Amino acid sequence: MASETDAPLIVLGIETSCDETAAALVRRDADGRGEILSNVVRTQIDLHAAYGGVVPEIAARAHIDLLDAAIRQAIADANLDFGAVDGVAAAAGPGLIGGLIVGVTTAKSMALGLTKPFMAVNHLEAHALSAGLTDGLGFPFLLLLVSGGHTQLLIVKDVGAFERLGTTLDDALGEAFDKAAKMLGLGYPGGPEVEAHAKHGSANIKLPRPMKGRPEPHFSLAGLKTALRHAAKAREPLSDQDVADLCASFQEAVADVVSDRTARAMEIYTERLGPGAQRALVVAGGVAANQRLKAALEQVARENGFRLVVPPPELCTDNAAIIAWAGAERLARRLTDDLSAPARARWPLDPDAPPALGAGVKA
Ligand code: KG4
Ligand code: ZN
Repeated sequence: MASETDAPLIVLGIETSCDETAAALVRRDADGRGEILSNVVRTQIDLHAAYGGVVPEIAARAHIDLLDAAIRQAIADANLDFGAVDGVAAAAGPGLIGGLIVGVTTAKSMALGLTKPFMAVNHLEAHALSAGLTDGLGFPFLLLLVSGGHTQLLIVKDVGAFERLGTTLDDALGEAFDKAAKMLGLGYPGGPEVEAHAKHGSANIKLPRPMKGRPEPHFSLAGLKTALRHAAKAREPLSDQDVADLCASFQEAVADVVSDRTARAMEIYTERLGPGAQRALVVAGGVAANQRLKAALEQVARENGFRLVVPPPELCTDNAAIIAWAGAERLARRLTDDLSAPARARWPLDPDAPPALGAGVKA
């Protein structure tokens, strides 16, 4: 992708949209290649674990306590001083508004103090663009975004240019994993717990495959969650083996549905962009760390002639390196924001996408 600058850019990124307080420095060279100079993540998981999910007010207060030190650490780890920073980026949405305001206000103050540009980064765009940082992937590509708050299939045409093909009508995929874990008495966050227990189980419990075979590549996970609850109830009291089998069966149902929906999105992608378009599938967001899902997607990609790009797990879960990188991609194209840019709890990547029938607020 041609860039409008020919000097390397160093961008400080700040991430406070959920329960990770993070700061990072990334360099973007004139040829469009990126390098992570530092990547500091202070997780708040311990603060929220007792509640089985993220408590917004606790998260916002913790961001205030942790962010300054995380930024100082990011500068120190990169062996730089603040004068080396060419721009400051913050995740400005979507996410928990209290936390977002902490990050955005900090980034704006720093940009003002350093007299450098500010970039209000869409957290989902940061996940989307992460494959450019890790694999030098150019546009266009198909994106499967699967996190605690979002489940979407999108065509990524360029920075800031998305076409949404599918979304979830109810729960996000990570949320479904978290609820399944809670239901089975496992810890938070639930995805890694479900995956670990599934390793000792067999997928021998019949669960539904919601939306499988539908022409539009949407998702629905609420029915699967309810079916899991019934299956668990029928087996109470649950032995360790029951829990393992329920986890394996749930994970298998998810892998099956995601494979089917992604294969459908690949067909639409090729119809829309033509057979000459780059065929690459990027999987991003916390759930991309799931190895069973990754194996299923490897097969779908192989069958449909797509290259699969999954950034490493530490860049799939929330971090500031991807925010800094999205900020650098924007800065290189002079897509900077003024200091009135707001933090936004909701911020869809494709605001023009037709509403998905039955979709809730997460669509
Ligand atoms: O992208 P992320 O770190 O935060 C959000 O922006 O939501 O994603 C967190 C989500 C959680 O729901 C977590 O349970 C899920 O990703 N997750 C996994 C795995 N690791 C994290 N889900 C399934 N399998 C995993 N190994
Ligand atoms: Zn995320």
